[in-house]
Amino acid sequence: MDDDAQVRHSLAKVIEAHGLATIEASSGAEALAILERGGEVPLVISDIYMPEMDGVTFIREALQRFPDMAIVMLTGVAEVATAVECLKLGALDYISKPVHIEEVRARVDKALEKRELVLQNRFYRQHLESRVRELDRRNKQSLINGVQMLVHALEAKDAYTSGHSTRVSRYAVKTAVLLGYTGDRLEQIRLGGELHDIGKIGTREDILNKPGPLTPAEFQQIQDHAPLGERILAPFMAESPSVLRIVRSHHERVDGAGFPDGLAGDAIPHEARIVAVVDAFDAMTTNRAYRPSRTPPDAVGELRRCAGTHFDREIVETFLRAFPDPAALPIPD
Ligand SMILES: [Fe+2]
Repeated sequence: MDDDAQVRHSLAKVIEAHGLATIEASSGAEALAILERGGEVPLVISDIYMPEMDGVTFIREALQRFPDMAIVMLTGVAEVATAVECLKLGALDYISKPVHIEEVRARVDKALEKRELVLQNRFYRQHLESRVRELDRRNKQSLINGVQMLVHALEAKDAYTSGHSTRVSRYAVKTAVLLGYTGDRLEQIRLGGELHDIGKIGTREDILNKPGPLTPAEFQQIQDHAPLGERILAPFMAESPSVLRIVRSHHERVDGAGFPDGLAGDAIPHEARIVAVVDAFDAMTTNRAYRPSRTPPDAVGELRRCAGTHFDREIVETFLRAFPDPAALPIPD
């Protein structure tokens, strides 16, 4: 593309003799119109100074619409600064005037090669990215399947856990949203809710389902489900530390009287404090081996009564804001 028809024609001849087809345009505007009509071309050779639209503006507009085009500028000796500006804007090279045939061939070949490389690289990168995404998706899916299997294994063992994990997860997520959790942190709450009692897989069935009071040794076994759950999950939950914290610490109490570590107040991971509240609420409002269920308003009263000793006060209030209608509780699983 050049406003000087003579330069343009002779350049076109050189390039055609080199085995490539050419289209001529006398201005940037005309070139853009041709591209717009016929689609992008592999290579544009453009003069820098032209009427209507200069080379700099042309590069900007052309690459915005056709980013895969190779552009080579034609420059006079005095235009080196502008040529450099063109390179910064994405032109691949420049040819100095007066034009030498050998130089044109060499620069054209080099520019086309460069473009080919860029396109290939992009293709491989995109291909690789989609492969990685696919692997990531499959990994996540098998993790979810594994989790589902664990939950089912536990539910088969402890009739009272059936539906409990799912409800705890739902209560916890809705409460966590009001507490500002989003994205991956929220997803970990969901998973942590699902898995919080997974360590009960290691608790003896007769203890899990014992209707009467527990002996100290039996109570110890029950307590062990929290650290045991953490140990079971740790090998494949390295990237979900919140899930592990929930599983280990969902029986801690803010007054320090909980288990397994006797942590108090803010030392208890926040996500575990959330699950502690909603776990207790669901346990109270569904039948257990050792006692019948309470009504939701009764359970709400109990949460409030124990706020500040057993439970985090702010989390109790947030949970009650998330589920303001006791008549709608417990939620279906
Ligand atoms: Fe538990």
